[in-house]
Amino acid sequence: MSTNLSHLSFRQGVEKNVFERMVDAADKAGTAETPSFVRGLGEESLFGDAVTLGAVSFYDFTKKENANKKVFVCNGSACLCAGTQDKLHHAMEQSFKADEIGHICCLGRCHEGGAFQYQGKNYSGQSDAALTTLFTEGKGDDSDNYAVFSTLETPILTAEFTGIDDYYAPFKTLIAKGDRDALGVELKDSGLRGRGGAGFPMHFKWAGAKASPGPVKYIVCNADEGDPGAYIDKYLMEKQPHSVLLGMMVAGWYAGAETGVLYIRAEYPDSVRIVDEAIADLQKAGLLGDNICGSGFNFRFKTIKGAGAYICGEETALLSSIEGQRPEVRTRPPFPTVEGLFRRPTIVNNVETFANLRAILTLGGKGYAAIGTPQSTGPKLVSLDSWFSKPGIYEVAMGTPLLDVISMAGGFKTNIKAIQIGGPLGGIVPMSHVDRLTVDFESFKKEGFLLGHAGVVSIPETMPMIEYIQHLFQFTADESCGKCFPCRLGSTRGKELVAKARGDSSFKIDPELMTDLLDTMEQTSLCALGGGVPLPIKNAIAHFGAELDGYFKS
Ligand SMILES: Cc1cc2nc3c(=O)[nH]c(=O)nc-3n(C[C@H](O)[C@H](O)[C@H](O)COP(=O)(O)O)c2cc1C
Ligand code: SF4
Repeated sequence: MSTNLSHLSFRQGVEKNVFERMVDAADKAGTAETPSFVRGLGEESLFGDAVTLGAVSFYDFTKKENANKKVFVCNGSACLCAGTQDKLHHAMEQSFKADEIGHICCLGRCHEGGAFQYQGKNYSGQSDAALTTLFTEGKGDDSDNYAVFSTLETPILTAEFTGIDDYYAPFKTLIAKGDRDALGVELKDSGLRGRGGAGFPMHFKWAGAKASPGPVKYIVCNADEGDPGAYIDKYLMEKQPHSVLLGMMVAGWYAGAETGVLYIRAEYPDSVRIVDEAIADLQKAGLLGDNICGSGFNFRFKTIKGAGAYICGEETALLSSIEGQRPEVRTRPPFPTVEGLFRRPTIVNNVETFANLRAILTLGGKGYAAIGTPQSTGPKLVSLDSWFSKPGIYEVAMGTPLLDVISMAGGFKTNIKAIQIGGPLGGIVPMSHVDRLTVDFESFKKEGFLLGHAGVVSIPETMPMIEYIQHLFQFTADESCGKCFPCRLGSTRGKELVAKARGDSSFKIDPELMTDLLDTMEQTSLCALGGGVPLPIKNAIAHFGAELDGYFKS
């Protein structure tokens, strides 16, 4: 069924894609979940009403229950730990009715806390007076300021942009030479592993898509950075957009794809605008379209704004989303390199993964691999939340001690008991274990944690660990795509158990039941949402047992 829908969606194409029409309708009317819109789009796309309704009722920004919301408060982990959101909510209640205030997660303002979205713009760290001015006069400061540091002798991901001519010179040389096999060798030598969380070897994926037959292929940039605490991709899109675009063009040239799609989360309105401007600049410079620089290579970009669903960061849910289907995770195989967007061969990579490509072209694969560790090569960006003395984006070589990153950021502003690194599915690292970790995939795995995308959320001493565990279950229950039972039911049962233990002192959680629940989710969920959230919860139970004892049966 969903395969047929993919083929129907292909007929509409990327330019007029079905999902974008849902988002546009919701932007105009507050929701796309109206009978007339659902029927109209269902008939035009030949999807039918049920499929269309299934999709528009899924997303935070298209479903009808959010139609009358006027302001959205961030409820991500970093803002929760910053302790800013209750006060912010209270201040909003002076200007809005309770049902006009919605929730959003996450705006990537983790470096400041107090994040919210109002009239399509993001704000953070606002005083009470500034909030009143914004809500009464519509005037406010939405600037987004954070530190950017690199410890590399020659910065790569944070290097200053030198202008289109200079920046794209290595790409022009590449396509003029036209030797794809030679590029394949450099990609393999570079050892670059995907930065979206799983650390999958990039060359392997690209070679798979190149080898897949078919006249139409796609390059998709996963810019749905949903991990609370992470604003790495936001930084790259807003401050280094050409690094991402160049990487996608290299992928297109290598694999034989003519279309690059950037799926950018709606929570990052500035990223959408800035990437669009960068694409227009490239167009003006004659680097897009047909027969680029006389090489015979054709390439175009399309940006698609998301609609508020964490699961759309999972690559197969993202592809279903673009196609206008309900964004449920697909079973693999087939992998996207064989059957991706519209069931055509597709490379899906994270923003930061693409941003590394220019360095591979200029340094060569081996030169690039000389940075970092043998298994985790290259530079890595780490984003630090508002409890750090100097929160911001830190570029380090893979293998850098985590303690060095913390000391570069001036330590913490308050007493911190643990950090969660790698988003809600990343491990919870007690401060006593931080000195065992270096910023690379192997070190985190060896110690029972996960580097993930490397956004860091600091959990202060004052945050009860049981509250944080409830937050993780709640997050998963809210964001589960619902396709598999262990995640859909397990996250809700976990949330209920913890809420009951917190609210009723006579109720204690059976530890065996909790272990059984977590093991079931971990071992039988279809994707790493349900399968991943047990890791931080198990970490919390293992390392904060004494604090949690009162909530469990002895
Ligand atoms: C629940 C879930 C959420 C994810 N969110 C993101 C995301 O926001 N950005 C991202 O690049 N990858 C995300 N991923 C990983 C993608 O599925 C995929 O592995 C990645 O886009 C591949 O790119 P890479 O190889 O460059 O890392 C997520 C995975 C899961 C299971
Ligand atoms: S684990 Fe959760 S998000 Fe992933 S497929 Fe199952 S229900 Fe969907």
